[in-house]
Amino acid sequence: MMLFASVTNTGGVTCWLLLYLEANPAWKTRVQDEINQFVRSQCSQAVHFPGDCVGVSIAEVPITTLEQETPTLDIVLQETLRLLLDGAFMRRNMGDELFVGKTRVKPGAFLMYHTGDLHLNPDIYPEPHRFDPERWLPEAAEQRQLQHGLSFLGWGAARHVCVGKKAATLMIRMIAVMVMATHKVTILDASGNRLSEVPRSKNDRLFKVCRPSENVSMKYERRNVFANSTNT
Ligand code: HEM
Repeated sequence: MMLFASVTNTGGVTCWLLLYLEANPAWKTRVQDEINQFVRSQCSQAVHFPGDCVGVSIAEVPITTLEQETPTLDIVLQETLRLLLDGAFMRRNMGDELFVGKTRVKPGAFLMYHTGDLHLNPDIYPEPHRFDPERWLPEAAEQRQLQHGLSFLGWGAARHVCVGKKAATLMIRMIAVMVMATHKVTILDASGNRLSEVPRSKNDRLFKVCRPSENVSMKYERRNVFANSTNT
């Protein structure tokens, strides 16, 4: 569980985040601008090789600064997790008989809960299949919490909340910043065209983030984040 959760999920979510950004160019631009701004303000300019300098410099930036300076990346990650984690959580009753509502759960019985009941519920998230990170702006999230209570299981909840959330978020942030600051990234679909729609997840594994149902690839070119032009 620990291995699935940490190794495969963190890398998988990072890839999906890039896919969602590619298919939503306005958000990609917002995240790219935020990353440019963060790196230009926090990292010292390259002397020899811009990419290396960004890596070394980011390592010196306090984690709290990285978190504070990349709020758009944060809401994009939340929205990616909402759409992506459309699967079942499982529990086993290791104690005495208990009731969930009127349903009797015998000792030793398994219970499954489908996250889609929350994540794709149109009463909680209007137009649930639409990628809209603004759902995670503080006011909207607070309002949802007041109205619906627990409505997101991207990091689990209650006694079994993800213990690696902080580490995973940090890794995803660092990778996104490193990749997008030092490279111009384009995600291509199976035909080699720029990705315009996020493919469905294969959803063929329990407890882990799955691969896309279609092949995608990443095209990348070196860029200098300190150069003035937005395209370089
Ligand atoms: C983006 C990456 C990750 C996502 C989306 C994620 C998501 C989750 C979710 C939804 C749960 C609750 C599962 C349930 O209730 O059945 C969970 C639990 C857990 N996660 Fe993560 N996780 C991630 C990364 C990590 C990392 C990096 C680690 C370790 C360093 C980790 C360690 C764990 C552990 C040990 C549990 C079980 C906690 C318990 O049962 O009390 N996860 N994770």
